[in-house]
Amino acid sequence: MKQLLLIGIGPGDPQQITLQAVDALRRGQVFFLLNKGAPTRELLDARLQLLQRHVPEGGYRVVEVTDAARDGQARDYVGAVQAWHLQRAALYQRLLEEQLQDGETGAFLLWGDPGLYDSTLRMLALVRERGMDITVEVIPGISSVQALAARHAIALNRIGEPLTVLPGRQLARHGHIDNVVVMLDGQCTFTQVDAEALFIYWGAYLGTPDELLIAGPLSEVRDRIVQVREAARIRKGWIMDTYLLRRMPC
Ligand SMILES: C[S@@+](CC[C@H](N)C(=O)[O-])C[C@H]1O[C@@H](n2cnc3c(N)ncnc32)[C@H](O)[C@@H]1O
Repeated sequence: MKQLLLIGIGPGDPQQITLQAVDALRRGQVFFLLNKGAPTRELLDARLQLLQRHVPEGGYRVVEVTDAARDGQARDYVGAVQAWHLQRAALYQRLLEEQLQDGETGAFLLWGDPGLYDSTLRMLALVRERGMDITVEVIPGISSVQALAARHAIALNRIGEPLTVLPGRQLARHGHIDNVVVMLDGQCTFTQVDAEALFIYWGAYLGTPDELLIAGPLSEVRDRIVQVREAARIRKGWIMDTYLLRRMPC
């Protein structure tokens, strides 16, 4: 039987990794790193640095592969994502067949928490459906949502209020906003909602030396966020940002 550890490594700060994750890093024998292209090389390097820091004696293998790319221009978003997932599942299957022996423990180092907007568990379910016998253990991590709340020193919800987490492409269609955390928003969708009485807590590259934080009434700070975000994206070649939109009391 092959074993897999899905280790949440937090959203960027090497200190935001749990003792359980450190223990899992020391149990892994083969670490799979998915390369998503040159601009985000530093995200792979951050994973390698965690390994060097917590397993200084080495003794593990690192298998780096180029991840399947999604068709970002496709009109049918859901269809494109499904096709991409099938490609990725085939990649995972090949990796696990060729690079992990029976009895060995492999590991993926997953950004933030493995249970939040991460497709690895779904990929592995597909691989299992195709007949591969693997056990999977998930080690939770600090998510970018928790890091956002901590850096702005806020609670994510107020007393008795709901908290919604959604991807940027669903924000414009979302109804009443109480407390909405938005992730995966490459389009600055906060510029498309009625800003009346809304407050935004925005954070990019949370937990890293490049961290950016802006908070304020949406109508007052949204243009600044767009400018700061675009300048940072061009400078680094990539960006990851998350924000909370909150309705202020009348
Ligand atoms: C594929 S999802 C992964 C989420 C991750 N599993 C988590 O728990 O945070 C990627 C999205 O997470 C958010 N994100 C991840 N790391 C971040 C960071 N360091 N700063 C700000 N947002 C981040 C962004 O919204 C980004 O588009």
